[in-house]
Amino acid sequence: MSLILIYPSADDPQDNQRLDEVLAHALAGVEHRTAKHATELSGLQGQTLLFAVPLGKYGVNLEYLSMLRRLRAQPDLLEGCLAGIIVDGGSDLYTKSTAAELGFAMNMAGCALIGRPLVEATGYLTNFRIQAKNLGTDLGGAYKAAAAELVLRLQTFRFPKKQRPEILVLHASGHAASNTMNLWNRVRRKLEKRCKITEIGLRNGTLFDCSGCPYTVCLHFGEKGSCFYGGVMRDEVYPAVCRADAIVLLCPNYNDALSANLTAFINRLTSLFRQTRFYDKAVFGIVVSGYSGSDTVARQVISAMNMNKSFYLPSRFAVLETANNPGEAVALPGVTDRLDDFAQHILDTLTP
Ligand SMILES: Cc1cc2nc3c(=O)[nH]c(=O)nc-3n(C[C@H](O)[C@H](O)[C@H](O)COP(=O)(O)O)c2cc1C
Repeated sequence: MSLILIYPSADDPQDNQRLDEVLAHALAGVEHRTAKHATELSGLQGQTLLFAVPLGKYGVNLEYLSMLRRLRAQPDLLEGCLAGIIVDGGSDLYTKSTAAELGFAMNMAGCALIGRPLVEATGYLTNFRIQAKNLGTDLGGAYKAAAAELVLRLQTFRFPKKQRPEILVLHASGHAASNTMNLWNRVRRKLEKRCKITEIGLRNGTLFDCSGCPYTVCLHFGEKGSCFYGGVMRDEVYPAVCRADAIVLLCPNYNDALSANLTAFINRLTSLFRQTRFYDKAVFGIVVSGYSGSDTVARQVISAMNMNKSFYLPSRFAVLETANNPGEAVALPGVTDRLDDFAQHILDTLTP
């Protein structure tokens, strides 16, 4: 299958050098064409994409910014695409935030991301220390191997569909008129005939955050399908995650971030993640902010669940609404159509 490399050149041509070498290695023998300028981003619908961004020391690439503008301006620019991302930085900073910003923009433009879609290279490649040790190679060798592995997964991945998929819904809202819960209830009505749905509430007191056990301890508990703290996570949430074909996270914006309970859930998924990858499970979200910042919360979900924990990110994975008072979200102009579209999109993603 052919691939399109989207490769905005760095402001300083020297900052392209390392990424040039890595791409030459990862794409050797792979049929592809390259788009280097924002003006070349057209006719991409339905394609497999590798978006590679050289950032340089200060984390700014002006051609990339022009591309970002184009992605945000044309909501169907990447309709039906599947993508992976490489971000090559000149320091320890800016690679992750750039990847999350780009992943969100691509996703909103209609593009799905495979699980663990990001190969990230910090200035001195020290983020590859463990991988280099495991592969018995140097840091540069580990970078090239990660990029080649990403290209291979990108070319071979297909999200599996099921006649009657299982959906796990996680929420942490405590009040009856919760905006996120109200929106979900509308979506649920459209799904329940075709899907098996499990809802679990992670309210205050039901879940401890990750205790940060040493790797071997985490591995030991993970092998038994558990985690140091046990509790609702071991008894209900881990089995439900294992059964699920998709997770829907209900995300009120709390201080421009996911609420503490949902963050604790993601942190404690680490134990299960040590045993298994979640490439064949999708993550969706319903995000509500009182005033602004839903993109920040959605980016956090992309970083944590897709880039880190390996869940598949379907195109337009989340509905993003702005509503503050209890009950306000379901009365927003146009919200019924947006929720109907979102429910249909979940069905189209999960069922044949
Ligand atoms: C602790 C807390 C922090 C919040 N922080 C923000 C914020 O940073 N930005 C914002 O736009 N809204 C913020 N909000 C408002 C909620 O996101 C908003 O009311 C949303 O509709 C809540 O959804 P829910 O009813 O499902 O809990 C905050 C609300 C709470 C309770």
